[in-house]
Amino acid sequence: MSGNSGGKEGWGSRLGVILAVTGSAVGLGNFLRFPGLAARYEGGAFMIPYFVSLLILGLPLAWGEWAMGRYGGRHGYNSSPGIFRAIARHNAGAYLGILGLLVPVGIYMYYVIIESWCLGYAWYYLSGQMAQIGAEARQLAAKAAQETSLGTAQATSLPQAVADLVSKEPYTRLFDSFVGESEHGAAFGGPAGVFLALCFLLNFYLIYRGLTKGIERFCIFAMPALIICAFLVLLRVLTLPNILEALGFMWNPHTEKAGFFQALANPRMWLDAASQIFFSLSVGFGVIITYASYLKEDDDIALSSLTSVAGNEFCEVALGGMITVPAAYVFLGAAAVLGAVGSSFDLGFKTLPMVFESMPLGYIVGFLFFVLLFLAAVTSSLSMLQPAIALLEEGLGLNRRASVSILGFVTLCGSLYTFYFSQGRMALATLDNWLGTFCIYLLAMYQTILFGWVLGPQRGMEELRRGAEIRVPGIIGWVLKYVSPVYLFAVFVGFLYQQLVQEQGGMFREAFEKPLVGATVVFILVLTGFFYLIIQQSVRRWERLERSQKEVSL
Ligand code: ALA
Repeated sequence: MSGNSGGKEGWGSRLGVILAVTGSAVGLGNFLRFPGLAARYEGGAFMIPYFVSLLILGLPLAWGEWAMGRYGGRHGYNSSPGIFRAIARHNAGAYLGILGLLVPVGIYMYYVIIESWCLGYAWYYLSGQMAQIGAEARQLAAKAAQETSLGTAQATSLPQAVADLVSKEPYTRLFDSFVGESEHGAAFGGPAGVFLALCFLLNFYLIYRGLTKGIERFCIFAMPALIICAFLVLLRVLTLPNILEALGFMWNPHTEKAGFFQALANPRMWLDAASQIFFSLSVGFGVIITYASYLKEDDDIALSSLTSVAGNEFCEVALGGMITVPAAYVFLGAAAVLGAVGSSFDLGFKTLPMVFESMPLGYIVGFLFFVLLFLAAVTSSLSMLQPAIALLEEGLGLNRRASVSILGFVTLCGSLYTFYFSQGRMALATLDNWLGTFCIYLLAMYQTILFGWVLGPQRGMEELRRGAEIRVPGIIGWVLKYVSPVYLFAVFVGFLYQQLVQEQGGMFREAFEKPLVGATVVFILVLTGFFYLIIQQSVRRWERLERSQKEVSL
């Protein structure tokens, strides 16, 4: 099964592909989702399941995806269905590849909305609107202090003093009205729609430009830019008073609620750590496999994969983990931070602006922080579109314009649906539960089995080692065959147990009880049907091409 049609695209440079994959990995997950989780599980304790998941799941699977992707590319395929079919040597491989489209495209539909919030907030800082909100927040706090005759001068500790100086209420109001939290459709006609349109246009413009001129060029500019922004913000955070205490709060395994070992016995922490590794590395997304398929046969993948995993971990732990929560702790104290970490959105869009208001140079820091989030989000969202573009091109034989138009229309429908049903952010949360967690587990399990049991550790490792600039230990093949699938299966069973037993049905029950959740699940099923039809047509076309190639060679 080889030899799909067409002039193949390829990466322009090695740096380009590494930055594109790292760009896909570094995203909102690093700067919003990770700090929230780490703080919720008291930092130090969380890092143990986190690193176990990284070593057993994240790193090996990233290597597996790079190897399978390049293998598929060598056989003429760039999309998950094509690549999986080439590996499985069976059409069933292609149909199971549906997950490699559903996950990235479905996640894109809501991810681009959060991306647009970041752009909006960066604009609010730049245009001075955040300064007005800040002034209101200070007035409200002063009024409240007067009413309770609690003069801020009498405050005893810095966090308390700042909490008395700045009220959270205007920030909550701003965010809720911006995203349309109060009722469905409330965000339509507001500024959020404009930012969403801008983000959509930017993503599709870059995708239309293609791999080298669009994705690669943008990542070569955006990745260093976001790292510079992150360093500037970090510099400000590390020069705050009480920062050592704040870093201790973030990272020490103090486990006030339970002992250290008791904290480790919390299965939920292990589940959250595994999900975070997948989400953060863009592993189990169907993205790396597509990106790697554009490599040349003898290009290194072993070191490139390790570099992008290391780059992502640096951005997540060393940058993301040192900015958000420590800054919030310095100004607001432990109780306020722990109250906000339940929701990454609360932490990022309500608590942090309040913190920036309290800090000298806060408006500049706030602007840089949201620019950083925006750039990180664009490099990730871009990568979520390429897998479907690859299928439309190689499966249906469409040109770039047609495939971009079709995908643009489909993702626009999904994003508008999510944008409209904004009350309680329920549509967004449902897509995130089903696609950003449940389906990622399924796709990751399928990929581990494909690598470990279908391609086989021997052929898989040969693929990984061809052109490699480092020696990947042979144990990785063994890990991918036995350890990763077993660990992943255990995590998945734990996830199902948590949903079905502990939460009495959880997301599955909600799909039947809450009409909007049910409708969103139906929407996902419709999307599945759409991709099924495209894969069916693609398989027919590939079979025709293979038959005609055979006839020519006879
Ligand atoms: N890997 C991307 C992120 O962390 C999706 O946001």
